[in-house]
Amino acid sequence: TTALRIGIAGLGTVGAGVVRLLRANADLVAARAGRPIVVTAISARDRARERGIDVSDLRWHDDSGALATDPEVDVVVELIGGADGPAARLVEAALDAGKPVVTANKALIAVHGARLARLAESRGVALAFEAAVAGGIPVIKAVREGLAADRLTRIGGILNGTCNYILTTMRETGRDFASVLADAQALGYAEADPSTDIDGIDAAHKLAILAALAFGRPVDFASVHVEGIRRISAQDIDFARQLGYRIKLLGIASRSAAGIETRVHPCLVPQSAPVAQVEGVFNAVVAEGDFVGRVMLEGRGAGAGPTATAVVADLIDLARGHAAPVWGAASATLQSASSMPMSQH
Ligand code: HSE
Repeated sequence: TTALRIGIAGLGTVGAGVVRLLRANADLVAARAGRPIVVTAISARDRARERGIDVSDLRWHDDSGALATDPEVDVVVELIGGADGPAARLVEAALDAGKPVVTANKALIAVHGARLARLAESRGVALAFEAAVAGGIPVIKAVREGLAADRLTRIGGILNGTCNYILTTMRETGRDFASVLADAQALGYAEADPSTDIDGIDAAHKLAILAALAFGRPVDFASVHVEGIRRISAQDIDFARQLGYRIKLLGIASRSAAGIETRVHPCLVPQSAPVAQVEGVFNAVVAEGDFVGRVMLEGRGAGAGPTATAVVADLIDLARGHAAPVWGAASATLQSASSMPMSQH
């Protein structure tokens, strides 16, 4: 059997995690994928950086765009990040060249997902992004496949591991915001620019993707209401505790007759609520539908290992030829949804 050859763009925390996971679980992955999945090429800035993995036998491109045209790459794995710039150029070039793309890039999918999905579909290739939402929680597959029969009315939850880690640690230790943020960065949870995490933008990206999938129509990212946790003090957390609450940064998307509402902001959650028990780097995704009722998925939303499992699961789908339509049920619904009311605030 022929191996599926992948090229990875971006060898940070997640990229190194994908290389490590593919090597450690090579036999299991090959058995489930029906063929081996091997990394043949890498593009990253600094070849010499110490990553705890041996990359000396891999083809190295200084320019990420070269992966799109590398004849020894069947699938491009984009782990550069950012809505625009090199990540967007690479994904577009790869899809345009008829190469499937797997990405963990929530900013890119949240802002340009609908357009990239059309490009992928026009070229007949997959664009998979399980790793873009809630790290190790298989939430894209859950919404697109497991809940495909229901009409969802709400989706959201705790969507940023860095913020949840900071809020949890502040409450447990009484320490201040800045010193706990430094821990989250050291643990590899935070984005390259941590203001993306603490100002709620990362959670908003994930919420926009979930809402688009759950409700079957595009969400204009600029219309998501966003407020982060920068101004939460140790005293706020203490007052909340005295009143029987925990402070959580929640993303909430809901659908009603009036349209779709999407918002991210700190919330007071009763201590006994299931979502209040989700602590540290853990994320929780809660979905509600007419027939299924309430579903909650909990797991690690950031970090090398959890995010790598989502990337490699998408690669296994591709290797088996089982890739779902890019925007899932959404693509089909989009055509017929134009007459429905749509407002976002
Ligand atoms: N910085 C993100 C988080 C990583 O803390 O949740 C996963 O998207």
